Amino acid sequence: MSDKREKLWHGRFENAPSQITEEISESISFDYVLYEVDIRASIAHANMLSKVGVLTAHEFEQIEKGLLQIKGEIEAGTMRFQASLEDIHMHIEARLTELIGDTGKKLHTGRSRNDQVAVDTHLFVRHALEEDRTHLVTLLRLILSLANENFGKVWIGYTHLQIAQPVLLSHYLLAYFWQFARDLEFLEFVLQSVGNSPLGSAALGGANYPIDRQMTAAELGFSGVYANSMDAVSNRDYQLNYHFFATRLYLHISRFCEDVIIYNTTEFGYVTLGDAVTTGSSIMPQKKNPDIAELLRGKAGRVNGNLQALVTNLKALPMTYNRDLQEDKVYLFDSIREVRRGLLGLTEILKNLRFNEERVLENLSKGFALATDIADFLVRVKKTPFRDAHAVAGQAVAYCEKNNLRLEGLTAAQWKEIAGFDLVLPENFFLPKESLERRQGEGSTNPSSVKAQIEKAKDFLAKTSDGRA
Ligand code: ARG
Repeated sequence: MSDKREKLWHGRFENAPSQITEEISESISFDYVLYEVDIRASIAHANMLSKVGVLTAHEFEQIEKGLLQIKGEIEAGTMRFQASLEDIHMHIEARLTELIGDTGKKLHTGRSRNDQVAVDTHLFVRHALEEDRTHLVTLLRLILSLANENFGKVWIGYTHLQIAQPVLLSHYLLAYFWQFARDLEFLEFVLQSVGNSPLGSAALGGANYPIDRQMTAAELGFSGVYANSMDAVSNRDYQLNYHFFATRLYLHISRFCEDVIIYNTTEFGYVTLGDAVTTGSSIMPQKKNPDIAELLRGKAGRVNGNLQALVTNLKALPMTYNRDLQEDKVYLFDSIREVRRGLLGLTEILKNLRFNEERVLENLSKGFALATDIADFLVRVKKTPFRDAHAVAGQAVAYCEKNNLRLEGLTAAQWKEIAGFDLVLPENFFLPKESLERRQGEGSTNPSSVKAQIEKAKDFLAKTSDGRA
């Protein structure tokens, strides 16, 4: 148990807290990662205090110098962290006082840990989003270049995991492009939600000093300040937004990974995963497992768990700050770390993926993927109502299944037996590429629509704030 005088808040206490209290109380084991933003915000705060005459210019200089030294110590690994000092804020303040004496004790003037932790997490989320944006744009660029390089290759579109229709491989890849593109749009929205500075709200009602909140906000790169100090210290919407972003992004990552895992099996064989993103089995020598894709699929559950944890934590919390909120950082830091891994991991998977069109073509011909095309042919050429044409094509499939035939092998006589009329389909009708050419309308898998779509994707990337497209 520590000495009660070690505590920065010891004044009104007679005894030290018990050991389990300290253990439950501490957050230094995870919030030390805030040290950089905490120091930056403290320097901005102290600078403002000196500008408004609460601190002298000399005091500010001492504080700034001390804080920068502490930053160096933390980065060099020489700073000692201890549960008795609770969190990163108190560690830095205590060390500052050790280094510069009583002036260190003036740093916390006009501020509370409630607005301090709020400003730190705002800055931390902003920084994370800026990194996420870079990785997300890299992923989008890679998907787009794969769609370009593989243009013309045929792929199978599935519904219910049953062979549905031939599509262009580029069309399939671009479907994921747009999902991640929406994640990028959402990211920009989340970034706006950390646009206002909570600093200066103090414990909940504002400071008893002539502080200038706009000054610290501008120095820390915020576009404004919270209009309400109680809202500022109790709000965690920006963290919810980050978790929504992370969860939705991970749903996309996870679904893409699921495709890769299935398509990489011997049974499908549509893709081959390279060594860089696979691992071996400790018992079965032949194995090359898609573990990275599986882990990313699994992490989708983890980040969703973090979202649910925060939602549950916040539910029914009274105004304003409550200590429950300390837990928010456990979920936040975990999801930030996993989002980075997810984006870099999926990018690496896609860089190490080979597409095997031969296997796709083999399955296409087995899977009656052109049954819809036959129905549409009857509608177009024979003026058969679609519902009847659908039935005829369905009977043809059943006939083929029974007699172990393929649609492309049916003779005119067999068609007569199936449909009651002669049918001769045009030459090349069953070539998947012909089927793709028959598809019409913007956004379809017709090669010319896909070309137009690639242009749209390029435009989208050119407009992102990263602007590297
Ligand atoms: N470590 C605390 C947290 O993360 C800092 C704020 C503490 N505020 C308080 N009133 N006890 O939430």
